[in-house]
Parts: sequence; structure tokens; C-alpha cells
Amino acid sequence: MSPDSSQNPLTDLDHWEEDLKARYPVPDKPHEQFRDYEHTTRPSVREFYRLNHEQQCVDFVRSKRDEFLPLQKTRMGVWEAIELLNTLVDDSDPDIDLPQIEHLMQTAEAIRADGHPRWFVLTGLIHDLGKILCLWGEPQWAVVGDTFPVGCAFSDKIVLSQFFANNPDSQRPEYQSELGIYEEHCGLDNVLMSWGHDEYLYYVTKDYLPLEGQYMIRYHSFYPEHRERAYGHLMNEQDREMFEWVRKFNPYDLYTKSTNRLDIDKLRPYYQELVAEFFPAEIAW
Ligand SMILES: [Fe+2]
Ligand SMILES: [Fe+2]
Repeated sequence: MSPDSSQNPLTDLDHWEEDLKARYPVPDKPHEQFRDYEHTTRPSVREFYRLNHEQQCVDFVRSKRDEFLPLQKTRMGVWEAIELLNTLVDDSDPDIDLPQIEHLMQTAEAIRADGHPRWFVLTGLIHDLGKILCLWGEPQWAVVGDTFPVGCAFSDKIVLSQFFANNPDSQRPEYQSELGIYEEHCGLDNVLMSWGHDEYLYYVTKDYLPLEGQYMIRYHSFYPEHRERAYGHLMNEQDREMFEWVRKFNPYDLYTKSTNRLDIDKLRPYYQELVAEFFPAEIAW
């Protein structure tokens, strides 16, 4: 993690996901009470979103794509990346803190229990591996958080969107119309998304997964669309079809985290075989 703590306000990367769960509570569970988001969000999460919304602009996204998307950082196997991510230790209470590998396996196990195809289970297992960006010194706000398009108006459906007022792109009229630099229904593949673990891992894994799995990985934090449906004007037919899968994936990501411990050692052989079915021994990161 970057030594600059002012850029890393979360004591635990998972606080972002806990906040998502508070924003989007489990469906069918009676809402205890409407959440006053403005006043109940923890200060570290608000600060995290402030940093994210003020700094994720077109120039920043382009510079991170240039830096990481040549995939010349390292070569390693998917399982190696899982073990590497598992070394990501946050500063919060260790009693309630699950190792990253448990979130991955809980997601995958829930997908497997529902009888979904093997590529879907695999997608659950690997979907957060892009968080290894944190281990390479990237600040939290450039790794996690809801994602959104840059180069066009920031939707007010994005959480805490008032923080975009200090984003440099807010001063650039060419980026502030509804379509900005894009054409209507141009397709998300032509749209620059805010930079983070989703977009990075999509590029690392796209050649090995079916299109549905690629979409799940690439857009799993794109809450402004998969929950709020704020960007239909940029989506094409394929996006609309594939977002059904992104929406199918989301509950496994969001609601499977549990303190019931999994027997990682017992599950490891199954998952190692699954990884080997789709991935070569080493891939480019
Ligand atoms: Fe994620
Ligand atoms: Fe996740």
C-alpha cells in the first residue's frame, strides 16, 4: 500500500464494499430504515470518494492505461496472483477481517452452489485480482470504488457526485455534455472508464474468458449503470445483453461475504484445476 496515508483514507479496502452493501441492502430483506447516506457514511469512505471523484479524469485514466495496459509489469500464474493478493493486509480489526482469498472463494462457492457453469465459478474466483494494484503502490482511490465513464458528464446517480465539482474535467466543456467525447450508443468498449481493479483485470484476463465473464470482471463496480441505469445512452445492443450477466454476478459479489470460514486447503485442489482449465501456467500482468 502506498505510504502516503492521505491518499489512502480507508483502514481496510473492504470498507468500500461494506459501504456498497449498506447502500444496496440485500433484496427481500426488510429494510430496517431508509439510510441517510449523506450523514451516515463513515468519514473515511467519504474521504475516499472525494479523492476518487476529484482525481479520476480523462488525463489520469489515459496515463494509467499507458502505464499498466501494456501488461509488462510481471508474468505470473493466476493462482500466484491469488496468493499475492492474499498478502494485502489492512490495518483494521483482524477478528472481523477476512483474507482476500476468502472473499474470492465465498463468491465462487456461492456461484458453484447455484449450479452455474465453470467459467462463471472461475470468474467469481478471480474477479478482484486487479486489487493487486494496491500492492504495487497505487492509491486506494485508483484501485477500488464505483466506476464511471470519464470524458462525458458525471451522472448525479454516482454516489457523492458533488465531489466531481473539483475534478479538472468539470472545467472542460467538451467533457461535460451528456455524450461528451462519445457518440450515442457507441458501445462501452469505446468509452474510457475510471481507472481501477476492474478495467485492469479485464485486460489481463480477457483472452481466456467468455464474453459474459469479461463483462462481469470489467463492469462489476459500475454501479451507476448496473444498479442505477444512468448510462444507457452510451451502451449498444451487446452491452445491454451482457449487462444481464453483470447484474446476475453482482449479488454473488456483494452478499456472499460471511464470517463463516471456508476450508481453503480442502477447496484449493478444485480451484487449482479450474484455473488450469482456462489459463496457461503464466499470464502477463
Ligand atoms: Fe471488485
Ligand atoms: Fe468483489
